[in-house]
Amino acid sequence: MLINPDSPVDKPEIQQMKVIHQAMRREFDRLPGLVAGVPAADTARARLLGEHLSLVLGLLHEHHEAEDELLWPILVERVPYERDLIATMEKQHTAIADAVAAVAAQLPAWTAEADPAARDRLAGALRDLGPALAEHLDLEEADVLPLIHEHITVAEWLAPQKHAMKNGPRTLSGKLTLAGMILEDATPGERSWFLSEMPAPARLLWRTTGARRYDDHVRRVRAGASR
Ligand SMILES: [Fe+2]
Repeated sequence: MLINPDSPVDKPEIQQMKVIHQAMRREFDRLPGLVAGVPAADTARARLLGEHLSLVLGLLHEHHEAEDELLWPILVERVPYERDLIATMEKQHTAIADAVAAVAAQLPAWTAEADPAARDRLAGALRDLGPALAEHLDLEEADVLPLIHEHITVAEWLAPQKHAMKNGPRTLSGKLTLAGMILEDATPGERSWFLSEMPAPARLLWRTTGARRYDDHVRRVRAGASR
């Protein structure tokens, strides 16, 4: 199924990737403020946010790994005159991976005791990650997705999505939370597309309990946030 039924069926529908980017943009935009707002010693809240952050970091990691392994090499081969642009994508991925590692390094110390110094280091690392990611996603959407549309086959385009499904969170609740993040700001067409991509049992579970549980989860995660 496609987001836009009028999209050509023999070309990748690049809007699909923007739906995933949108979820990452929103979460990384909110997380520094959410972490910074956790009171000292509130370990329950630190753990809740820590689990949420880990899921978002996992989504970002899988997304970039799939692009590195399954999309960039094909583009370099098929569109050699855009080699520099793809090299920039790879360089940005490396810089983002370094920023993610800095975040991940701070996380255990904070979730253990909700110590304010650890919290501020983690919030700082998240503030460094956000703009690097936003710059990368902007460039990818503006300049690389059109290349993908023209030079990548539909089967090649779907390979990273399969990679993400296979390597996503292990727990069912993690999978459903991730689905909720992606569906949260989706348009009706994007929502129908994403639900159609979910395995039938997961789709049923999303409709019966997942959507409600996601609402509860985000309410708790964003409790006390100013926006
Ligand atoms: Fe992407």
